[in-house]
Amino acid sequence: MPRQRPSTRLRSEPIRQASGRPGDQSTRRGDDEETGRPEDQDLAENQTRSPSPPLSVAGQSSASAAAKLILCGEHAVVYGRPAIALPLASIRARADVIDGPSGSGIAVHARDLRRRWLVANDPHGPISQLISSVLRYLQAQDTATSDLRITISSTIPIASGMGSGAAVATAIVRALAAHLGRQLSPEEISTLVYASEQRFHGTPSGIDNTVIAYEQPIWFQRAGDGGWAVGESLNDPALPTPLPPTIKPIVIASPLDLLIADTGVRSATRQPVGEVRRRWQAEPAHYEALFNQVGAIVTQARDVLEHGDIATLGPLLSQNHTLLQRIGVSSPELDALVVAALAAGALGAKLSGAGWGGVMLALVAPDRHVRVAAALEQAGAKRVSKTAVNLFRPAPSAL
Ligand code: MEV
Repeated sequence: MPRQRPSTRLRSEPIRQASGRPGDQSTRRGDDEETGRPEDQDLAENQTRSPSPPLSVAGQSSASAAAKLILCGEHAVVYGRPAIALPLASIRARADVIDGPSGSGIAVHARDLRRRWLVANDPHGPISQLISSVLRYLQAQDTATSDLRITISSTIPIASGMGSGAAVATAIVRALAAHLGRQLSPEEISTLVYASEQRFHGTPSGIDNTVIAYEQPIWFQRAGDGGWAVGESLNDPALPTPLPPTIKPIVIASPLDLLIADTGVRSATRQPVGEVRRRWQAEPAHYEALFNQVGAIVTQARDVLEHGDIATLGPLLSQNHTLLQRIGVSSPELDALVVAALAAGALGAKLSGAGWGGVMLALVAPDRHVRVAAALEQAGAKRVSKTAVNLFRPAPSAL
């Protein structure tokens, strides 16, 4: 895949914050159908600016990174099957780097976690390790870079399946590179973030860091059966190196409207991923067969996206959810949201990300946004947002 600058292919708008009370009827759903106004007019708009490139001015640098959404193929992707992922350009993590007073060391302030620390005092924490490995990679560990203040903030809910950890790591890598006057390719950024993901998750497929670093819709497939090559990971000999994956941009021939609903249940990726690994080790043939079925769905999904056949995409997403249930990563909360979305007229619905909590997505026709969003809230969603996936036609040479 050619190196590309971040793009603004997706736009996400929080629709409304759910009341948290199932059965709350305070929204005005249905009114629009009677008046003939498009339902969209009733949705709260929350436009966010387009992603801006890293910025570095007078000892102060900033960069951001998008959240991600896995459209289909999660979990099976860890075992060498393909998956499709989308960046969510308007939900972002951000890192700011400024020069610190001489002798102050590298100080980190994670605003959302209300945590401050010195890298020297917590050298083995994942963010400290990321910062050290990026500075090593940039060959910048000298006195000029040993006094920094790094502030991290994010609007991506943590442990929700939206790539919060990878986005924070990507923003840090971009901001540090900008601070040192260096431009890194998406491939370099993705590799550095992947090592950080390994420290967090153990055996990540690499899809999160890839879609976030390239910031465009991608087809992602690890080499072989998802095995590991023996070798040295970038700047960290303790980490195994995966064989290079296949990364391709995806054609989106017709715009899609997705609703993303958050169960409010936080679930750390490594737990369901670890449980699936244990089950796969105990019953390899059974899980391989499930992963093959997921892989077949992802391949069909790519074809229908290329042909703009949105009506066919819906059932494929719902079938993917059924397989994820059988793989063992859904939850009562996720299932309730999927059922509610389909009953309210969504074209298809599934959990997205690692599961056991986090978010689900529903593919909706434009005249169904409000009705499906209200049904999701009634079924327990803590937050529902709408994302428009725009037309995307990469250059033929990129495919
Ligand atoms: C997490 O966003 C997606 C999973 O497939 C794990 C991975 O690919 O590393 C569940």
